[in-house]
Amino acid sequence: MNPEGNNVPAIDVDNLTVSYGGRPALESASFAIDPGLMVGVIGPNGAGKSTLIKALVGFVRPDSGDIQICGVPARSAKGSIAYVPQRGDLDWDFPVTVEDVVMMARYARLPWWRSPDGSDKSAVRAAMDTLGIGNLHGRPIGELSGGQKQRVFLARALAQDAEVFLLDEPFAGLDAATEKELVKVLARVRAEGRTLLVVHHDLATAGDYFDRIILLNQKLFGYDTPQRMLRPDILRRVYEHKLEPFKHPIWEAAAS
Ligand SMILES: Nc1ncnc2c1ncn2[C@@H]1O[C@H](COP(=O)(O)OP(=O)(O)OP(=O)(O)O)[C@@H](O)[C@H]1O
Ligand SMILES: [Mg+2]
Repeated sequence: MNPEGNNVPAIDVDNLTVSYGGRPALESASFAIDPGLMVGVIGPNGAGKSTLIKALVGFVRPDSGDIQICGVPARSAKGSIAYVPQRGDLDWDFPVTVEDVVMMARYARLPWWRSPDGSDKSAVRAAMDTLGIGNLHGRPIGELSGGQKQRVFLARALAQDAEVFLLDEPFAGLDAATEKELVKVLARVRAEGRTLLVVHHDLATAGDYFDRIILLNQKLFGYDTPQRMLRPDILRRVYEHKLEPFKHPIWEAAAS
């Protein structure tokens, strides 16, 4: 809430343009996400999904546009953002243990003169248990399987106690049972009033997982409910006609 008692968007993006070496990856995107929503970011490979997330975290510098997180400019809001990068974007060779990685989330919140205390340690332990990696706490991160590494980074995001979660393909490489468990964990995070922006590739599950969908392919094609966004006509434009039909009641209702 702002002083006038109005709801401030958790994520407010105004006219955002990002390019790499003069080539635009994201053009004039604008949307505002209310707190407490889980939002899917959908679009083909190279659509600018990761670029959007990186701009929100401050990892890429926009050409123009304005980003506010919970009412403050994104560059001043780093403590309230938890970020899980796309798997291929990470260097796994650094010599730290699972527990070290999750504890880093707590260091980000501490003033420089304080060491982690009991409450930090129990937050780290709880996050690792939620993701089922408590038994891996002393293992070097480089030795873990792809799915286990993904869980470590998700545990780190949970331990950070952030307001806004930016997750770039968090389910990629997870087995089906783990994906289901993780969806439940994310729903709990949302039930606490936090906001999640999740890059996701599976159109068949997107309608069930998310409250709202952002459709992206360099430009923003829409930000609305799954019922309005996951329609064959609009998806074909986003995917430039390279779209396989998928099994979901929304699609089947629209296609019949
Ligand atoms: N560091 C970079 N330098 C130059 N070009 C880049 C860089 N990162 C991304 N791009 C380009 O920007 C465009 C958008 O890339 P981005 O990674 O945001 O896509 P994406 O939607 O996340 O794709 P994917 O589904 O494959 O992860 C692509 O054309 C990509 O080649
Ligand atoms: Mg990506």
